[in-house]
Amino acid sequence: MQTRYSNILAILLVSLIFISCKQEKFESDNSIPESPTAQIATLREAPYPIGAAVNVNTLRNNENYRNTVIKEMSSITAENAMKMNFISVSRGVYFWDDADYLVNFAATNNIRVHGHTLIWYKHTPSWVSSFTGTTDEWKAIYKQYIQDVVSRYKGKIASWDVVNEIINDDGSLRDCIWLQKIGKEYIELAFRYAHEADPAALLFYNDYGHEYSHIRRMKAFNMADSLAKKGVPVHGIGMQMHTNINRSLDDLRYAVTAAAVTKLKIHVSELDVAVNPDKTLTSFNDAVALRQKNSYRAVAKAMMDIPEEQRYGITMWGVHDPSSWLSPNPDWALPFNSSFQRKPAYDGLLQGFYKQ
Ligand code: XIL
Repeated sequence: MQTRYSNILAILLVSLIFISCKQEKFESDNSIPESPTAQIATLREAPYPIGAAVNVNTLRNNENYRNTVIKEMSSITAENAMKMNFISVSRGVYFWDDADYLVNFAATNNIRVHGHTLIWYKHTPSWVSSFTGTTDEWKAIYKQYIQDVVSRYKGKIASWDVVNEIINDDGSLRDCIWLQKIGKEYIELAFRYAHEADPAALLFYNDYGHEYSHIRRMKAFNMADSLAKKGVPVHGIGMQMHTNINRSLDDLRYAVTAAAVTKLKIHVSELDVAVNPDKTLTSFNDAVALRQKNSYRAVAKAMMDIPEEQRYGITMWGVHDPSSWLSPNPDWALPFNSSFQRKPAYDGLLQGFYKQ
């Protein structure tokens, strides 16, 4: 009899501890789902948006690619189709077909579009390089371009990389035609013009190197901070994170968590994890697959470690290994293989979404 009572008591006690632990977990952060990871069927069910850069021709022509995007992605970015030299044929004349296709595809499939990129020192069309005019005339073509593009997709593109890669490794401003012709005001003007054209769009400053350079990281934070203090509409920091398996997991995590001090939205905007940085591998193998999985997990987890309202998401720079910009150099950098099967990196992402 006594043993029976003590058994019941023990069970009650264990249940109580279990309930109070669960309660505590729930109260400490109810935005982080419980395990098991197996409950997530696709990346679309992740606790924050997961996306990919897409190539519009491949999206049109490759059914497996298209289906993978529809099934797995809650956000897409044009890998090239919205860059200035692809879209801007001459002053006021545009090639919209590919960008339109992408935006319509996203709307049909309920996928967010992140616009990339309004202003970049690369991909300048020749009509801009050969333009001559006063500073005001340069500002006028700059404004027209930004506002034509942003207003065409007003309400359809949720967010834009407004300026891309604007700093050098030493933290100074990178030279570009807009800096030469307009002066350093070109940066804040881009944000102001974009905001005028679509006040609801979230505007990002996108750059690289957060995970390996303290100077680059600090300069990016200071830039975003000083713009925000001046009342410039900047809403987020994009960190590209083209990385590889040799980068320490702490470096990857810290890039994300440190950026959160800005209080801006954080977008890991171009993630890929190359497994073959030294170009010595001839085939993908279990050892590198595991290291790559750990890298993807670290980034996914770091995003869970920042406040929920700052998690803009993770965009991978491509859908499957052969569609990576690092291809044909074999780097196997993405979470889907050449047959669109999920690699261990995919499970790494899933594991990162949870507490364990
Ligand atoms: C790359 C594309 O992936 C390539 O197809 C293109 O030839 C060059 O640009 N940082 C960026 C992206 O912001 O726009 C770049 O995309 C990759 C580096």
